[in-house]
Amino acid sequence: MKHLGILLSGRGSNFEAIARDVEAGKINARIAIVISNREDAPGLRRARERGLKAVYLPSKGKDREVYDREVVALLNEHRVDLVCLAGFMRVLSPYFVRAFPRRILNIHPALLPAFAGLDAQKQALEYGVKFTGCTVHIVDEGVDTGPIVAQAVVPVLDDDTVETLSARILKEEHRIYSEAIRLMLEGRIRIEGRRILLEPPGPRPTSEGHS
Ligand code: GRF
Repeated sequence: MKHLGILLSGRGSNFEAIARDVEAGKINARIAIVISNREDAPGLRRARERGLKAVYLPSKGKDREVYDREVVALLNEHRVDLVCLAGFMRVLSPYFVRAFPRRILNIHPALLPAFAGLDAQKQALEYGVKFTGCTVHIVDEGVDTGPIVAQAVVPVLDDDTVETLSARILKEEHRIYSEAIRLMLEGRIRIEGRRILLEPPGPRPTSEGHS
């Protein structure tokens, strides 16, 4: 069975959605470890309540790569196949990205490449777009720049606030993150340049690389 490693810094609703789908057998994997750089992250507590291995790994005062080496060592110790960033508020070092090539996913609350970076929902509202959404992408060495696995579109309503818009987007985040994890674990994706194409379900083609 494949092992997931979840990294979070806060609320952990995406983590919980993944954990629910794992428990329901919709994602055929085990959550081997949850790591947070914030001791007070509600997601960490929620992981412990679910009986999962949940580790607080302080990042304060540590050089980025020194910290990432500790995270990578923990992930490897738990034989993690796929790393899922779920509100992990740190940019990964090239060392980390290279340790898990094409095996790190992130969820971003906008339709990338629009509104990368922080406060994506606020950026979208202030820009005045009529539609925004969320994106699951493979993490590369840039910020929110990796190949896109899944997206969902969400309308922006005239009376939206950042809170109401974020809540509508979050619902879609929970849905597409699980779906993307499933596709990755099943080896159902093919990467051509920046494009991620879906393989039909069934026997895996022999030319397929790692997943
Ligand atoms: C989500 O909006 C996600 O898109 C962004 O950080 C937020 C995390 O929320 N990367 P949660 O901790 O999963 O509830």
